Amino acid sequence: MCHNHELDFALPPFNSMSDRKILVTSALPYANGSIHLGHLVEYIQTDIWVRFQKQRGNQCHYVCADDTHGTPIMLRADSEGITPEELVAQVEKEHRADFDDFGIAFDNYHTTHSVENKEFAELIYTRLRDGGHISKRTISQAFDPVKNMFLPDRFIKGECPKCGAKDQYGDNCEACGATYSPTDLKNAVSVVSGEKPIEKDSEHYFFNLGDFTELLEGWTKAEGHLQPEVKNKMAEWLETGLKQWDISRDAPYFGFEIPNAPGKYFYVWLDAPIGYMASFKNLCDKQGLNFDDFWGKDSDVELYHFIGKDIVYFHALFWPAMLTGANFRTPSAVFVHGFLTVNGEKMSKSRGTFIKARTYLEHLNPEYLRYYFAAKLTNGIDDLDLNFDDFSQRVNSDLVGKVVNIASRCSGFIKKRFDGKLSASHSEPELFKLFVDANESIATYYEDREYGKAMREIMALADKANQYIDEKKPWVIAKEEGRDSELHDICSMGVNLFRLLVAYLKPVIPILAENTEDFLNIEPQGWPIAAEPLLSHEIKKFKPLMTRVEADKIEAIVEASKENLIKATEPKAKTCDPIAETIEFDDFAKIDLRIAKIIKAEHVEGADKLLQLTVDIGDETRNIFAGIKSAYAPEDLEGKLTIVVANLKPRKMRFGLSEGMVLAAGPGGKDLWVLSPDEGAQPGMRVK
Ligand code: MSP
Ligand code: ZN
Repeated sequence: MCHNHELDFALPPFNSMSDRKILVTSALPYANGSIHLGHLVEYIQTDIWVRFQKQRGNQCHYVCADDTHGTPIMLRADSEGITPEELVAQVEKEHRADFDDFGIAFDNYHTTHSVENKEFAELIYTRLRDGGHISKRTISQAFDPVKNMFLPDRFIKGECPKCGAKDQYGDNCEACGATYSPTDLKNAVSVVSGEKPIEKDSEHYFFNLGDFTELLEGWTKAEGHLQPEVKNKMAEWLETGLKQWDISRDAPYFGFEIPNAPGKYFYVWLDAPIGYMASFKNLCDKQGLNFDDFWGKDSDVELYHFIGKDIVYFHALFWPAMLTGANFRTPSAVFVHGFLTVNGEKMSKSRGTFIKARTYLEHLNPEYLRYYFAAKLTNGIDDLDLNFDDFSQRVNSDLVGKVVNIASRCSGFIKKRFDGKLSASHSEPELFKLFVDANESIATYYEDREYGKAMREIMALADKANQYIDEKKPWVIAKEEGRDSELHDICSMGVNLFRLLVAYLKPVIPILAENTEDFLNIEPQGWPIAAEPLLSHEIKKFKPLMTRVEADKIEAIVEASKENLIKATEPKAKTCDPIAETIEFDDFAKIDLRIAKIIKAEHVEGADKLLQLTVDIGDETRNIFAGIKSAYAPEDLEGKLTIVVANLKPRKMRFGLSEGMVLAAGPGGKDLWVLSPDEGAQPGMRVK
């Protein structure tokens, strides 16, 4: 039992105090990129649901983590000259800040590169293996002969075998939509090195998904596990038969090594969902929760995974099968949502609609977006469009124009005319009751993830509150003698209705809700199941709770997102050799580089590539053979300053002893350039 936690939702004065125990997850975002508005559809959807459950008094835990393993992360770390561990630590910090600032209130945020995850991945794998669900088989795969690594399809590019479009990925063509295998690509190159990939054999480990066909047929069809659209998709997949799933990758790979399989690593998707368990285990250790209550075979805790429609296969097939094979419980349901489009189109970097969470935060209030998504979300898997005009219009008219407006219309009079104190009489019991009674249907909408419907019902109530005020015309009454108590009652009722509206909106706009609680001088609001009006209650001075969306801020976001394009670190075909492995400073310091003056340069009898150089390195002269004949005539070199490796072990060559190495760059032939220092450097100076 977690005590801290209970405090969070022990929210007087009105609470349903139901007894449900719920564990909720959102998909674990990849650690190779920033959080963008597309991701936020999911995290906001989940967060609203979790906040709703907590407000209802349920015990609800929300866990997530960064998904840190795999080839893209390894290569990105490589290209940034840092270790994958350093990269994922940086990204985790960034992700956490983005989520925090959008009000995504995880109970725990962890990483898949954790001890807990390693333990669970090994446990689940060994249980599957011992249960006979793992097989081994040799397969042939594209291999980068320069970088010495197997290449995932995404890291091979070439011309489409169907339409000839250039620069297409290894698995499908974006121009004509054809799908194929990387070996069919014409003029294929490795994105990592630019080299032509070769085919190479390697032994792989497979999860025998087919062993679980019956289980999965039952699980996917059972009532409540999947949405109808998803259920249908599953039926199609099951009908075509379940193939073995390749769960291993060869070194070099950033991930966990497979037990008793040196050089073989778990494919990132094997340990990613296990990250849900690992993050929850981490929370259990912090809060004294009992892990087995939640994940044990016989657990009756509700377990829900919120995911996007692109990763259904992993969550509705692999995951329940893995869990069952390893003697854990299966999820109570997987909730799938659609994808975000912006102004009707796929998010696009060139149009400036690929908007990072941070870019948005620099310009606009996160609760605008939370409300807008809520207003558009259903429990289906259709895509959801962020239309900027609609966005401003809805936020301005609903939140600012309808909801906050009630408070600003009424609270001024309370402050000025009644010392900030609400009336002692309950003047509109019927209207108030209507607002309270709506709690059931609004709760049902939230529970069913029909947030759009919940928002519409709440806004219909807001319309009623505004109508009430319009009819009563407090601004008129305020000017008339002897109508003080009427004025007091009307404004107090307005404030009380406003308070209920905010209670209903609290899962969506928690910051506005908190500021409202402060302004109304009340305890955190639970779900208003049996709310009574605040009577003779003192409120504080009204401060604007939300301002209107300014159109120029949206333009600024789009502009800034266009700029992001230049900074984007998408893998692209490389023209240079990959950067070598990171070294310690000490390793570098071992190389003694010196400024040298070429005193003499001459041809070498019988050597077609070499020139013989005599160089002055301060206190001594050296004889060096350099392979630069194709690019330099001896007379070009004499008198020139350059840099040599002075402590390289002398090498005996056919023409004599070479006592150092001259630094040069370029692929060879005519394209070779000897390095030279800026003017002023003197022979013998150390380069460091
Ligand atoms: N790392 C995997 C998930 C592992 S879960 C064990 C992954 N990461 S992701 O960063 O690509 O996506 C995280 C979640 O965000 C996924 O559920 C994905 O569907 C969702 N979305 C990513 N882009 C999205 C949109 N444009 N629109 C809506 N959801 C999107 O997948
Ligand atoms: Zn094509």
